[in-house]
Amino acid sequence: MARRLRSIPPTIFSEMSALAVRTGSLNLGQGFPDQDGPPAVVEAAVRALRSGRNQYPPGLGVPELREAVAAHQARHYGIELDPLTEVVITAGATEAIAAAVLALVNPGDEMVVLEPFYDSYVACVEMAGGVRRPVTLRPPGFRLDPDALRAAVTPRTTTLLLNSPHNPTGTTLTREELQLVADVAIEHDLVVVTDEVYEHLVYDGRTHVPLCTLPGMWDRTVSISSAGKTFSFTGWKVGWVTGPADLVQTVTAAKQWLTFSNAAPLQPAVAYALTQEAAFYDALAKDLQTKRDLLVAGLRDLDVDVYPPEATYFVTTDVRRYGHRDGLAFCLALPERAGVVAIPEQVFFDDQDAGRHLVRWAFCKDAAVLEDAVARLQAADLHA
Ligand SMILES: Cc1ncc(COP(=O)(O)O)c(C=O)c1O
Repeated sequence: MARRLRSIPPTIFSEMSALAVRTGSLNLGQGFPDQDGPPAVVEAAVRALRSGRNQYPPGLGVPELREAVAAHQARHYGIELDPLTEVVITAGATEAIAAAVLALVNPGDEMVVLEPFYDSYVACVEMAGGVRRPVTLRPPGFRLDPDALRAAVTPRTTTLLLNSPHNPTGTTLTREELQLVADVAIEHDLVVVTDEVYEHLVYDGRTHVPLCTLPGMWDRTVSISSAGKTFSFTGWKVGWVTGPADLVQTVTAAKQWLTFSNAAPLQPAVAYALTQEAAFYDALAKDLQTKRDLLVAGLRDLDVDVYPPEATYFVTTDVRRYGHRDGLAFCLALPERAGVVAIPEQVFFDDQDAGRHLVRWAFCKDAAVLEDAVARLQAADLHA
């Protein structure tokens, strides 16, 4: 195996999902919804398949999807995009992140990343030969610490990768926190890559603010999102990059050699979803908020500290009160003891002391599954 891959562990999600299948456990590990997205969008994909849209789409994505992404950005955020030059379609946000990192990070360059990280960030920065500089979000609030952000930037820092709404903590950065990021980026002349895949899954009346809309940020921000979370089609892997033409072109320079293009019949279906099914994600966010409350209430009856999220699919807990040395041991024992799978967050941290005791639970599941999981957890002895 090439050296650049040796230090990257296999993704925890494969391991824990396999454990769920092997033990017949309820899988509150990997973040995929139990319910598919709108049936009319599936029908649009079927129509595309049947009408011969099965060959390579353009490398930048099919025109109607690029236009639909541009219209979505205008409608929600007032961002005016040229669909010909300022939008590129990718194989999920995952490819967009990989392409952005490969296109922007030279060997030895430092990239500032919020910790805990979404695990593909670590792998991509390693593969690019870059160095990640974590800024840790700490419980109970998981807020962005201005001093920690400033301290993470060095003369070798060239980029910042910002995930808000944030997986796994569910933090949605406030306008003040975003302004802080903008100030640091402008002061140090950094390019910022934003991962906004949970942009519509925000709760309690919050709204998502794209960093690129802050003064001075448009020219230096690469914005990433995808259809997976917004429309509950996580397996479709249709994502997009938006931003100024020069940065989109730079990211495309890497993207064209990764997949070139993908998901020919799904791209028109996602275009249909973006233009016709906006009500879906509003209803989804309301439904997920109820499910968050259900899981949070259930977890609060256990011997754990619970940190309710502002957004996303996930709630974080601290399992120390059960006497476990770490969350990994807790999660490995959980299927046998309770028939439930959760994710140890320490795998998303460089700072092991900060993450050792944290465990992530997904609530993007049927209410009956969540109720069953809570009943199982409450009936089990989870002490070390
Ligand atoms: C923060 C974050 N970014 C990116 C992704 C991947 O998105 P996609 O499925 O569109 O590749 C996920 C999926 O869990 C995620 O949580």
